[in-house]
Amino acid sequence: MLPNFEASLDFAKQLDKQDPLAEFKNLFYFPQHNNQPAIYFCGNSLGLQPKSVSAAIETELNTWKDLAVGGYFNGPNPWLHYQEYLKPSLAKLVGAKEIEVSAMNALTVNLHLLMLSFYTPTKERFKIIMEAGAFPSDQYAVETLVKHFDLHPSDAIIEIAPLDGKKTLSTEQIIDAIDHAGNSLAMVLFGGINYYTGQFFDLKAITAAAHKVGAIAGFDLAHVTGNIPLSLHDWDVDFAAWCSYKYLNAGPGAVGGYYVHEKHAINANIPRLAGWWGNDEKERFKMEKGFIPKTNASGWNISTAQVFNMVGLKASLSIIDQANIHCLREKSIVLTAYLAFLLNQLDRIAFEIITPDKIEERGAQLSLYFKERAKEIHNKLIDNGVIVDFREPGVIRVAPAPLYCSFEDVYKFYEILKNNF
Ligand SMILES: Cc1ncc(COP(=O)(O)O)c(C=O)c1O
Repeated sequence: MLPNFEASLDFAKQLDKQDPLAEFKNLFYFPQHNNQPAIYFCGNSLGLQPKSVSAAIETELNTWKDLAVGGYFNGPNPWLHYQEYLKPSLAKLVGAKEIEVSAMNALTVNLHLLMLSFYTPTKERFKIIMEAGAFPSDQYAVETLVKHFDLHPSDAIIEIAPLDGKKTLSTEQIIDAIDHAGNSLAMVLFGGINYYTGQFFDLKAITAAAHKVGAIAGFDLAHVTGNIPLSLHDWDVDFAAWCSYKYLNAGPGAVGGYYVHEKHAINANIPRLAGWWGNDEKERFKMEKGFIPKTNASGWNISTAQVFNMVGLKASLSIIDQANIHCLREKSIVLTAYLAFLLNQLDRIAFEIITPDKIEERGAQLSLYFKERAKEIHNKLIDNGVIVDFREPGVIRVAPAPLYCSFEDVYKFYEILKNNF
């Protein structure tokens, strides 16, 4: 239940007083504006730096300094097992078993690797469904994947676009497209949340529809992981990948995470591109011929754990665990609804919130489409110490991350818009 919102600073402060997560913002560094913390609504792009990260990096630097190669087996966090430390938290975030998740590389690389395992086109079944306007990297990944199999993108890729006059897709429309593709459909590769509109898709319904026609369901969860709790295992999702630099606050270009459903993870016969880190650990150091994958998601690991690229994630996940993803979501629902309520009071500026109004169809982010002056408004917000991002042709994405944003931040953002336009 949402409270009866009021457009006043006192009301916003009252909500902050009642917020059990309010203190978590003190665990992060904020960019400064006129010697004050900026209002940071850009966690959907790059999350803030947890204060604990530099000590965590220092720890690994010291292990390297003091133990050198011995750091793989000794020290506070033996590097040989570094991915293992991340699994309990990642599993909780996406609703998976620990054997279904791991971390390596970065998001697009992992999408490629997983799609190569799960996209096995035949003469009859070779199509891939994705949302029109998916993040460009996903578009490029799918385009080059089908070309890799000598298929033409216009034959093999079905893009679902919003119907006339709409900015977002309905679940019904997505399911109809899947049904219509039927036996020709090999895979659905959808964003969990579309980066531009902020629409959160019904992953359970999409997965069920894909399976009904015999297709694989895979998702790009860049904008979902750490934002909305998921139940990937129970929803029977086949595979998913995400980045760690948005709501997971692991730092720029930090290691990507991924999920493979247990039924596939335990199957050593699924084709994959391999390297020694995915090899059964008992066999790894025998240095023998013949790849024997681990029978869990780590069977897709390829290279030596990139420890310094995972330290930030480990530090940040421990904060997210303390906050609890379900409590974060509870706060996020109210925080974003308050933002929507305040924005709807602004009648002098011509804009449209293109993110769905329904709470279950969005996460922290609202995308505001300004018919005019979008860049000017964006610049003014930046000048006033509000960090949000701009996407052509006129969308300002506003994402109050519940871990470090307050109701007062949301109110001040509204006041700046109200007083300047
Ligand atoms: C939805 C989505 N997919 C893919 C990517 C690309 O991720 P990476 O550059 O880590 O491969 C991004 C980056 O922001 C994204 O938002």
